[in-house]
Order: sequence, then C-alpha cells, then structure tokens
Amino acid sequence: MLVELGVGPGWHCLEIGAGGGSMSAWVASRVGPTGRVVAVDADVTDELRAVRLPRLEVERCDLRTDELPGGPFSLVYARLVLGYIGDRVVPRLTARLCRGGTLVIEDYDWYAARTSSDPLNTALASYRRLLESIGLDPRFGTRLQGILRRAGLDALGTCARTRRGDTSGPVGRLFRRTLDTAAPALLDRALITRRELRAALRAIEDPATELETPALVACWGRRWR
Ligand SMILES: C[S@@+](CC[C@H](N)C(=O)[O-])C[C@H]1O[C@@H](n2cnc3c(N)ncnc32)[C@H](O)[C@@H]1O
Repeated sequence: MLVELGVGPGWHCLEIGAGGGSMSAWVASRVGPTGRVVAVDADVTDELRAVRLPRLEVERCDLRTDELPGGPFSLVYARLVLGYIGDRVVPRLTARLCRGGTLVIEDYDWYAARTSSDPLNTALASYRRLLESIGLDPRFGTRLQGILRRAGLDALGTCARTRRGDTSGPVGRLFRRTLDTAAPALLDRALITRRELRAALRAIEDPATELETPALVACWGRRWR
C-alpha cells in the first residue's frame, strides 16, 4: 500500500511508535539519497537503536508529552499505536505534513478475528471486553476513515487485511502471545473462568485449530489545505 501511495525517492517520512523499526527500515531503503526517515517511539529499544541506515534517524518521543520532530514530511505513518493512545494526536500529525503529504494510520479491528474453536472464540470475546474495560476500542481500526476525514484530509483511501493460518505459524504465535499476555488480566477481572482459559490454551496448541487474525485496517489521506 505504501508503494501504491508513491513512497519513493526524495520522500521525507516520519514513523511514530516505530517499535522494532522494521517499517522505518523498509521505507528508508526506498527514499534514496535525497530522502529522510525519522523513526520515533516513547521506548527506544535496543532493537530500534540497532537499525542503522544512512537515511534513518531514531529519536525518543512520547506523543503524549513531547514535541514531534520538525517536518514537513511527505509521509507520516503510525501502525498499531493510535489504538493505545487515542486520536487526539492526529491534528499534530497532520500539522507535520507538507502540502500534498500523506498520513497513513493502521490499526486492528478485533471483531474480525475468528477461529474454528469455540473455546478460543470465547477467549476472543473476553479479550475484546478486556480492551473495552481498560478504555480501548477493539473496533478502533473501523473508525480510522472518520478520524482522517474530521482531520480535514482529502483523497481518503482504506483497505484491510486479515491473515489465516494454523497454530504452528505466525498467526498461531500472534494468538498465543495475545492470550498469554492477557490471561492474568482476564482472570483478575473475571472476564474468563480458569476452565475456559485452559480450554482456549489447549485449542491454541491443537494443530487442527484454524485461525483468522484481527483485520489490520489501513487508512490514508492527503493534506492539501
Ligand atoms: C504494538 S507496538 C507497534 C510497533 C510498530 N508500529 C509495528 O507496527 O510493529 C506499539 C508501539 O507504540 C509505542 N508507543 C506507545 N505509546 C506511545 C507514545 N505515547 N508515544 C510514542 N510511542 C508510543 C510503543 O512503545 C510501541 O513501540
């Protein structure tokens, strides 16, 4: 999708909440000698610091409290970040775009996730309730177009993708990591019983279980004004 949006030589790009920096590294590989990529995160991990490329700068920046790096940027990109910190930051992101610059936000719609296992589907429903109980929106990805429209961006576009797989591959790892991480909070808040959790953990080890990830919704818009 970033290729279709034209990301290429000469682009100046800002990735917020860059995590391990894989996307920033990919973008840096496309922008050529006149391009620039700035990767920021509130938590600059060793993994992110280790991404050393000629046109890539890494900075610590907490979006809730810190100034964003100076632009203007042809691309501002955020994947799986705004769902945690909310959309109030969007006007600050659009303010960093050059005229004609593109904002791309990607986030999950957890309601699209499903499996062939009833116990795992029960655990998924509990996980969505957990997100809601801590003030996060499991459907955040479905709200992105409205957020970008209200931010005054034009030429909006959107797409979504899910991945299917069994318990042995990357899709299985995503479900297992999510369940392992969430299990203590699910039990603490009585959103799942120990019995239901055990059944879900058994299903995530069963090679016959089929899985479909939450939809990763991408939405983009350009700043002309
Ligand atoms: C789920 S990870 C996504 C990482 C990366 N964007 C990706 O898609 O692989 C969320 C990232 O957002 C960062 N983050 C969370 N809150 C933040 C904030 N207030 N300011 C900047 N980064 C933040 C986290 O440190 C983490 O690296």
